Amino acid sequence: MAIPAHYIQELLQRNSVVDVIGGHVHLKRHGRIYKGLCPFHSEKTPSFTVYPETQSYYCFGCGAGGDIISFAKEINGLTYVEAVKMLAQQSGMPLPDEDDKLSKLKSRIYEMNKIAARYFHANLNSEKGKNARIYLRQRQLSDKTIVNFGLGYASDGWQDLCNYLKRKGFSEEEMVSAYLAARSSKGNIYDIFRDRIIFPIIDLRGNVIAFGGRRMGDEGGPKYLNSGDTPVFKKSNGLFALNLAKKSGKETFILAEGYMDVISLHQAGFNNAIATLGTALTGQQAKLIADYAKNVVIAYDSDEAGQKATRRAMDIFSKEDVTVQVLQMEGAKDPDEYIKKFGRDRFEALIENANSALDFELLKLRKQHDIKDTQGRIDYLTKACDVLAAIPSPVLQDVYCSRLAGETGADKASIKLQLEQSKNKLYRSNNYKKGKEMLKEGVAGGIKVDYRQQGNTLPKVFAQQQIISALIRDNDFFPVVDSQLTEDDFTDTDMKKAFIEYKRLKAEGQNVSYALLCHYLDEGARKNLAKINATNAEIIMTSNDLQMHINNLRTAPMGQNEIKQTSVEDLAKRIESLKEKKK
Ligand code: UTP
Ligand code: MN
Repeated sequence: MAIPAHYIQELLQRNSVVDVIGGHVHLKRHGRIYKGLCPFHSEKTPSFTVYPETQSYYCFGCGAGGDIISFAKEINGLTYVEAVKMLAQQSGMPLPDEDDKLSKLKSRIYEMNKIAARYFHANLNSEKGKNARIYLRQRQLSDKTIVNFGLGYASDGWQDLCNYLKRKGFSEEEMVSAYLAARSSKGNIYDIFRDRIIFPIIDLRGNVIAFGGRRMGDEGGPKYLNSGDTPVFKKSNGLFALNLAKKSGKETFILAEGYMDVISLHQAGFNNAIATLGTALTGQQAKLIADYAKNVVIAYDSDEAGQKATRRAMDIFSKEDVTVQVLQMEGAKDPDEYIKKFGRDRFEALIENANSALDFELLKLRKQHDIKDTQGRIDYLTKACDVLAAIPSPVLQDVYCSRLAGETGADKASIKLQLEQSKNKLYRSNNYKKGKEMLKEGVAGGIKVDYRQQGNTLPKVFAQQQIISALIRDNDFFPVVDSQLTEDDFTDTDMKKAFIEYKRLKAEGQNVSYALLCHYLDEGARKNLAKINATNAEIIMTSNDLQMHINNLRTAPMGQNEIKQTSVEDLAKRIESLKEKKK
């Protein structure tokens, strides 16, 4: 986030948490805190609480929590920057300077990319572009395809594009920040894309956000060069041809590995094809795809790397609301080659017969085992049952058990028994994970155990929370903590992050409040801290208390063994009993 800390400080001073929230929630004062009906979930008795001291809010009903900016963000459905701007406007502050600069730079980059894309495209039809034209012809791309994708050619010189952009009024800094130029060690700028076919990457609003460039011969650096991250482009979010696939209006998208696959597919009429940009599929890309498609056919390369990537992609898609099918190509390395070799109709037939993700997994297992051999058969069935255990539908499980029985000649009833075992195994391992989360949640859940009456319940995490809570409430505690602990002493991810950011802000000379700290934490940590603030609101922390928590953190054993030995049920009981004691 580019907004500087001093700007946030000013914003926090000008907007009291009671005023900001009071504009949306009818707050009633109870001593030092305020209560009202939670605006984030429906309730009849107020559990939404506002703490002027830490400038935070927390709802004991639904767990919503944060500071004024997160409140403005969530209640109005704004982005972070929009929320900052809104609060700034309301309190008569100028808009954040940094942000303004950034948005100006962004629009300059959009403009520059558009001009560069046109320039590259025009090169194709010029004298310089002769070889590029021949290359594209060789790869059987039609003029229509070339125009449809806005393909271009970056000429061979070191500064052809730079000079052109300079004449158009762009500065060297702007070119470098757009990833169109780089600076040599001597300080001169030069074109990044040279003697390459250019593939513009276009976002859903039609902006050119980045470029890919393919070399035409066998030499001259990597086969493809891609833009790095810029203010308008994050490689891990980018998708090639998403703009076109979205326009296709189809519910199914085809996800390929490469630029050329996508282009070939479109040329053959599959205008719903997309690809990532030289990186493995990320969760963000999967989300984006799931926003526009109901079904995805993964059509990665048929080599081993492609198949590995397929499994990874399946995993990532499994968290999204899309069905996934996997294309099995034989006799060609990728969709581009397949279509050229066997024609579009056969590719279409492949898509129609694409396996479900489940079939793909089972087929893969089947290939790994020799089911004529007894041990091979047993291993295959055991692993297949592990796969089936994870699917939610009992009907589907039954269908597959029959199929496995037919395939292996094993008795269906014993396959079902094996499936039960797999389900138990899965249940136990899920439970273990859940248990770990609950443990964290239980303590973070503000079970404020007074050390004088209650010994060491998960002492480490608890101590960390108390230390951070103390630091937030009183900056004078910082030297005491800083002289005895380092970030490595913090084992809880949220508390560790909080400590690191706190320390960094102190080094900047800031007075660190909860609200300021929030701007450098993710949502999880922000809520976690809001909860701790809320449960500690009535408690006064002395330096003796603080020292005790520091000692505990340094000497107390990790809670890991407890975690392993405790079932979820036990854990739930323990957490309940702690809550009871607290009351
Ligand atoms: P491929 O090597 O399969 O290329 O890489 P391709 O798309 O089939 O291209 P042609 O047919 O050989 O021309 C797949 C994708 O991986 C990224 C590119 O996005 C490419 O489309 N890649 C590959 C790179 O980013 N850099 C490279 O050097 C190679
Ligand atoms: Mn390929």
